[in-house]
Amino acid sequence: MTRIILLGYMGAGKTTLGRALAKAHNIPFYDLDWYIESRMRKTIPQIFAEQGEEGFRRMEYNMLHEVAEFDRVILSCGGGTPCYFDNITYMNQQGETIYLKASPDVLYAHLQMGKKERPLLKQREPAAVLATIQAHLQEREPYYRQAKHTLSVNLLDNFEKINASVAQLSALLNLQSSPIDRQNK
Ligand code: S3P
Repeated sequence: MTRIILLGYMGAGKTTLGRALAKAHNIPFYDLDWYIESRMRKTIPQIFAEQGEEGFRRMEYNMLHEVAEFDRVILSCGGGTPCYFDNITYMNQQGETIYLKASPDVLYAHLQMGKKERPLLKQREPAAVLATIQAHLQEREPYYRQAKHTLSVNLLDNFEKINASVAQLSALLNLQSSPIDRQNK
């Protein structure tokens, strides 16, 4: 059984690194937000607008319990997932949890690079976004820190840097390269 669960704040690189790690080791990849969107046939901003954050958190809890039961999975969670209900305890029971830890500046830069719409970060002014990130991190770090592993993440703005972080994650998790990758080397 291989269950790897990536957590950390919005813009930490959970989806980017999770997808690349999954590809490197031939393990199915799931992103919890995408899973929720496809199961509910609604976007995350739509769910927030229609059911509020509380409705979203309930859905997130239920969907986490579906995906984290799969036998072979790399799962990237939403930034808030470990911080509600007993989710972090459940995640630690289910698999290898990794906190992708990045500074507010790196998180901000990644969020600017991506196109994803985030209902909890709607401010336009950089200073206001940074202040929200800092306040959220204060509240959330006690949950993130409960992950079994932590990996520091710097700016991921090219493939070399992404590959270097994937190599660090593979070493941290003791993952061997897949037979297909070995053949190709
Ligand atoms: C959230 C993070 C988002 C998404 C939702 C709420 C949060 O996921 O689940 O907008 O509370 O931090 P990403 O971390 O993948 O952006």
